[in-house]
Amino acid sequence: MEKAVFDARYEVYRQAVEEYLNGQFTEQTDWSDLYDSMRYSLLAGGKRIRPVLTLEFARIAGAGEDWRSALPAACALELVHTYSLIHDDLPCMDDDDLRRGKPTNHKVYGETMAVLAGDALQPAAYERILTAPGISEGGRLECALLLARASGPDGMVAGQVLDTLHAPKTGDELHQVHRLKTSAMISAACAMGCAAFGAGPELRTAAEEYAQQIGIAFQIRDDMLDVIGDEATFGKPIGSDKEEGKVTFADLLGIEGCEQAVRECTEKAVAAIAPYDADGFLTFFAERLASRMK
Ligand code: IPE
Ligand code: IPE
Ligand code: MG
Ligand code: MG
Ligand code: MG
Repeated sequence: MEKAVFDARYEVYRQAVEEYLNGQFTEQTDWSDLYDSMRYSLLAGGKRIRPVLTLEFARIAGAGEDWRSALPAACALELVHTYSLIHDDLPCMDDDDLRRGKPTNHKVYGETMAVLAGDALQPAAYERILTAPGISEGGRLECALLLARASGPDGMVAGQVLDTLHAPKTGDELHQVHRLKTSAMISAACAMGCAAFGAGPELRTAAEEYAQQIGIAFQIRDDMLDVIGDEATFGKPIGSDKEEGKVTFADLLGIEGCEQAVRECTEKAVAAIAPYDADGFLTFFAERLASRMK
């Protein structure tokens, strides 16, 4: 796929996600300060890689040009992802002041509101999946289950517990953290697109392998950028992991070793999805993530 074609499709997906999210939590209520804090983080300009994956897999799974029907599920995942970032930045977690190039939620709204905004984003996500007009009842249920499993006590939260409380140090320990805190949600993103439009088992298996591999690559790249990134581009503080006393793959493998590991995971991802990636969008997507600076 040509770069211009990839960029154009990514931009159409991204715009659709921005528009959907911008329409959420806009009512005037006595607790509009809660909405303001949720919208602040939701609309701060994330890359939207997870919802874009859901929409592309929905397209491949059979939605075709009707991929917009998967927007409530795709954006629900972004709601849960955004909650995880708000909580991840809290002083009791990574204690970070910058996210998506802006002050973190608790810096603007205070810790109490940041915790509550994160709390509120989670049920709001399931509400949107379970009422999605363009997805069958079975598809909605499956999407909700996938998101619950990926983000819950045996998924992303488990990864956060290991990362923040168990001081992982070995390659195997770090691998487990990456699989749980990062790949689980990226896998859910791909699987929800498949589930919303009744994909067959072969596509689902390929999507799972693709997602696991880009998920690991994504987190290794994130750990690298915490060392070699540029704060203005990355949108997050550089050196935060070291400051928190974390051991990352950047320590274990060095920057070149990380680059090699990211390349290997990306190659496996591309090979897994090749039979379904007729126009090359998912291949380009994986390669783009492997060299991202943001
Ligand atoms: C940040 O995810 C958390 C990690 C798993 C490293 P992203 O890098 O996708 O963050 P946004 O959504 O673009 O801000
Ligand atoms: C991923 O890990 C965090 C979540 C699962 C929310 P990081 O702590 O490395 O993410 P960043 O670097 O703060 O985005
Ligand atoms: Mg963290
Ligand atoms: Mg963090
Ligand atoms: Mg990080």
